[in-house]
Amino acid sequence: MRGMNTSHIVLGISGGIAAYKSAELLRRLMKQNISVQVVMTEAACHFITPTTLQGLSGKPVHIDQWDARTPNNMAHINLGREADAIVIAPASADFIAKLALGLADDLLSALCLARNCPLLIAPAMNREMWQNKAVQRNIAQLASDGVTILGPDSGVQACGETGMGRMLEPLQLAEHIVAFLQPKLFSGKKFLITAGPTYEAIDAVRGITNRSSGKMGYAIAKAAQESGAEVVLVSGPVSLVTPVNVRRIDVESAGEMHEAVMREVAACDIFIAVAAVADYRTANRSEQKIKKSSAPLTLELVANPDILAEVAAHEHPPYCVGFAAESENLSEYAEQKRRAKKLPLLVGNIAQNAIGQDESELVLFDDQGTYPLPRADKLTLARQLLQHIALRHIGARK
Ligand code: C5P
Repeated sequence: MRGMNTSHIVLGISGGIAAYKSAELLRRLMKQNISVQVVMTEAACHFITPTTLQGLSGKPVHIDQWDARTPNNMAHINLGREADAIVIAPASADFIAKLALGLADDLLSALCLARNCPLLIAPAMNREMWQNKAVQRNIAQLASDGVTILGPDSGVQACGETGMGRMLEPLQLAEHIVAFLQPKLFSGKKFLITAGPTYEAIDAVRGITNRSSGKMGYAIAKAAQESGAEVVLVSGPVSLVTPVNVRRIDVESAGEMHEAVMREVAACDIFIAVAAVADYRTANRSEQKIKKSSAPLTLELVANPDILAEVAAHEHPPYCVGFAAESENLSEYAEQKRRAKKLPLLVGNIAQNAIGQDESELVLFDDQGTYPLPRADKLTLARQLLQHIALRHIGARK
């Protein structure tokens, strides 16, 4: 499979009202640097015109199996050969039945049958149709044939009924497709990732924490999972959804995070410490709420273990990646931190520009130099970081 910037897919559109959303899906895929060849069924042309899709994709749309203009009349083979995946959105009940049976009586179904790349389908139909045993049987058959089924979703339908059968929204579909197309740089590798803040209790209701949202660590966990790795995420208290197929261990304090990491670390190949671990905890945590008084209150703080430094100091450490959020002098402090903790790779960011936000801007520091990653959403940055790790650690190509 090609790298994330050069993927090519065939977008197959079958006949259903959700076809009007295929234009939006096409746009979203193209924005992600995916080139798209549209192939439609005759029925699809009743719902959206080929002209619209041709205009948006910048490529002729193929419909007819008997179109004598296609070179050597082998469109059903040639179009699929160049693709990293075929995506059918919407996939109507009728088209799903044809796929399940292996019929090839139009260009799109012939293309699916002759393919040598993965097939993804986004079913869309009325809820009664979706629940029909024949459709469910066909879906089960396709899933067992290795076809990826995206959705459907539940909600209001074009017919006015409410229920299961709506096509996933273009944004969700595009996210699934982009995730699916990620190069499997880390197949068979195990990642251990820390994320979020820690919470060091002062008393029964108060504590010391920081403003880390966990978004960067969670994005890296998702990107690592999508690139074929097995991922364990040790997470401080955050309100984020666990990425699909990631094993999450919830912890609160630095002490608990330390314990969880030490338990899991022996099995991992790559350790990425993204968590903003509290440097100190209270020496004596009060079990009861401390009562207010006018006298000054002194809290005694003791240093927490440095989880990352400890892992990096192992005799046979995993490939260790640290994060450094600094508010000034990023290069100097980051490089100092990398040396002090003996890390092959350290990721720096300016704290004020990153914490809690959906976007960030990173600089990678390793033995070979400094690599800025310009401002982007955290998932995009996570994917770029993983490509860098793959180059350094495994020597894999992008
Ligand atoms: O806090 P500091 O700037 O030293 O953090 C740098 C890196 O070390 C981060 O990757 C952080 O997750 C990790 N760290 C840790 N345990 C600590 C402190 C920091 O793993 N107690």
